[in-house]
Amino acid sequence: MSIHTYQLLDGTSIPWLAWGTGTGVKGSEDTIEKGMLAIKSGINHIDTAQLYKTESETGEAIRRCAVDKDQVYVTSKLSWDQEGKPVPLDEVRARVEGSIKRLGFIPDLFLIHNPFVPAPGELRAMWKIFEDLKDEGRLKSIGVSNFRPQDLEVILTGTKHKPAVNQLEFHPYTLAHLTPLLALHEKHGIIIQSYGSLSPILRHPTGGPLKPVLEKVAARLSQEKGKPIDATSVLIFWIRAQNVVLVGASGYPQRIEGLAELAKSPQLLTDSDIAEISDVGKTIHFRFYKEHMSVDFPVPQLPSQ
Ligand SMILES: NC(=O)c1ccc[n+]([C@@H]2O[C@H](COP(=O)([O-])OP(=O)(O)OC[C@H]3O[C@@H](n4cnc5c(N)ncnc54)[C@H](OP(=O)(O)O)[C@@H]3O)[C@@H](O)[C@H]2O)c1
Repeated sequence: MSIHTYQLLDGTSIPWLAWGTGTGVKGSEDTIEKGMLAIKSGINHIDTAQLYKTESETGEAIRRCAVDKDQVYVTSKLSWDQEGKPVPLDEVRARVEGSIKRLGFIPDLFLIHNPFVPAPGELRAMWKIFEDLKDEGRLKSIGVSNFRPQDLEVILTGTKHKPAVNQLEFHPYTLAHLTPLLALHEKHGIIIQSYGSLSPILRHPTGGPLKPVLEKVAARLSQEKGKPIDATSVLIFWIRAQNVVLVGASGYPQRIEGLAELAKSPQLLTDSDIAEISDVGKTIHFRFYKEHMSVDFPVPQLPSQ
């Protein structure tokens, strides 16, 4: 069965589930090995970034699998360096070429890792360089990550190429906060690539009110399908129902194979499962990756538990 894709605003397609290399893997050889397992299990989208130092390993995993590069979609990112220093505008081109060299190919999608990668006031100018690189064929699809509404507005003003995606922490407990951002995405045709998606189960101190709902749906699906389907899978299917790309991760072979099974699966949730998870999610505000997302983008007055 072919893997479900979404169409990006630039007309290209993106596979709905990616295996991420920013968490779960330990070191270079482990990343290559787990990357190969992900590809051989059927995952056809890998997420990497300059910051993770896994671009060479991502390219190597694809080469060692001896699959056509076109069979594996790759997202990478222009990151600030380990000290969090902004990237000077006159270094952007060289840093992009560095990613291409490490990967061994032009990534299918390349993102500005967060709105502070450029120095203050230089976001629009950095996006213009991304647009030029796309026009010159040195980049393919371009997008952003961890952008708030005000960050998106800066680059959407007079832009030639809108960002195709905004990669950020997304799950039911972020819905209430992200409502204005989702409206902006919808208006411009931007889609979310979601990380931290398992936070309601793995990182919320108790799981909150969503836990029993996810467990109830998981128990029903397990019975209907005659095989175990857990609450994390239910959450991942909810992400898919939002037309959001899921960036998952794991360093454990069994879980990587499990992610691949989900990637190949049809949607299992009913409309009423999806609505119930959204409704319960909106009663709580909780996020794991806090960073700048609530700075000048106030969080709703909701409990976190
Ligand atoms: N753009 C950004 O700023 C940004 C930020 C963060 C992440 N990312 C990207 O998104 C990817 C995923 O991020 P994330 O780690 O936050 O995603 P996540 O899907 O919320 O969590 C994945 C982690 O959960 C564990 N896990 C997975 N399935 C599990 C299960 N069934 N039960 C228990 N634990 C489970 C894995 O650990 P085990 O190894 O123990 O299985 C893995 O480390 C990263 O690797 C990176 O590529 C991007």
